[in-house]
Amino acid sequence: MTADRFRARYDAATADIDPPLAIVDRAAFDANAAQLRARSGGRPIRVASKSVRCVALLRRALAQPGFAGLLCYSLAEALYLVDAGVTEDAVVGYPTVDRAALRALAADERARAAITIMVDDPAQLDLVTAALGPRHPEIRVCLEMDASWRPVGGAHVGVRRSPVRTPRQVVALARQVLARPGFTLVGLMAYEAQIAGLGDAARGRPLRSAALRWMQRRSMAELSERRAAVVAAVRAVAELEFVNGGGTGSLERTAGDESVTELAAGSGLLGPTLFDGYRAFQPRPAALFALPVVRRPARGVVTVFGGGYPASGVAHRDRLPVPVLPAGLRLTGTEGAGEVQTPLTGPATRQLRVGDRVWFRHAKAGELAERFAEFHLVVGDRVVGTVPTYRGSGHCFG
Ligand SMILES: Cc1ncc(COP(=O)(O)O)c(C=O)c1O
Repeated sequence: MTADRFRARYDAATADIDPPLAIVDRAAFDANAAQLRARSGGRPIRVASKSVRCVALLRRALAQPGFAGLLCYSLAEALYLVDAGVTEDAVVGYPTVDRAALRALAADERARAAITIMVDDPAQLDLVTAALGPRHPEIRVCLEMDASWRPVGGAHVGVRRSPVRTPRQVVALARQVLARPGFTLVGLMAYEAQIAGLGDAARGRPLRSAALRWMQRRSMAELSERRAAVVAAVRAVAELEFVNGGGTGSLERTAGDESVTELAAGSGLLGPTLFDGYRAFQPRPAALFALPVVRRPARGVVTVFGGGYPASGVAHRDRLPVPVLPAGLRLTGTEGAGEVQTPLTGPATRQLRVGDRVWFRHAKAGELAERFAEFHLVVGDRVVGTVPTYRGSGHCFG
């Protein structure tokens, strides 16, 4: 379908709603879920909730074949989702030092059966024990190992997460968990961000893309061997229910690693702009937001209300929202996406009048939900439902 057709559909569907507004194209969301499943090699996909941040959409993803459980980003969030009945299986993908949430976890038997916390350092276990006292009920624990690539000397390719990376280090940590009362070791996670989170086919950057592909091949080979050794060593001392790995950008490659029992993905459901530059797949843009044209400062310039929603990460241009409909608009180099208003230039400005709307895509998936209280669900040229985001439900988990 052409850009004009999409624009006509989205304009028609939301004609009675005043922008700023955000939509999720439900057919695109479902098609993206099917594409993630097709890339997963039959491994179940744990939904990365940070990349969705909307209960109704999390439920919709979990209802699709191939998806099982949530990878949450905070313990308070996991408690909220289990309490709401969204899941009975929530792994918190990042360590927690939230004492109130830990106390709530300890006090709730159902939550304790459903939620697994992440540990990569005995200090985190100490903190749990200090918060709950020495005789706390059993808490499920997943160990995170470092999945970065360290080709030579002090070089580090990847993100800064866990300090444990060798079989010896991870087993030593596993033994710490096993030796302490009140903790049950159930899982292992290794997230290869340098493969899953970096597009290997960025438009207009062939050299960088080729270098990335080389790095990713080497890194994956190194990680597969090391992860298998770590999993074997930990399985020798503890029974693991799951080994989690990967993300939207790496599903087929991580699924090729025999030691991984399940994958994680979230961004691929909504298809933000940072996931445009991958060779293996192309998600459909499922989440968009509309901003209204409020003035026309000069010939060739229109100004829309709102728009300053940059994504997290290193503050390069690729973090900015992108005007996509009508085609032929761009941000200005002097103002970018503004705090309260955003000027746009480009040939499509000629057709835009005060009161018209411009459709944008966000650079990241979940952060859009922090800017809008609700998502309008669009099917064809109709809004078939309106659902609150975390923000709209009054929640801000970090
Ligand atoms: C532990 C972990 N797994 C998986 C992912 C992948 O999420 P997504 O599919 O949204 O890129 C992330 C994202 O940062 C993560 O932190």
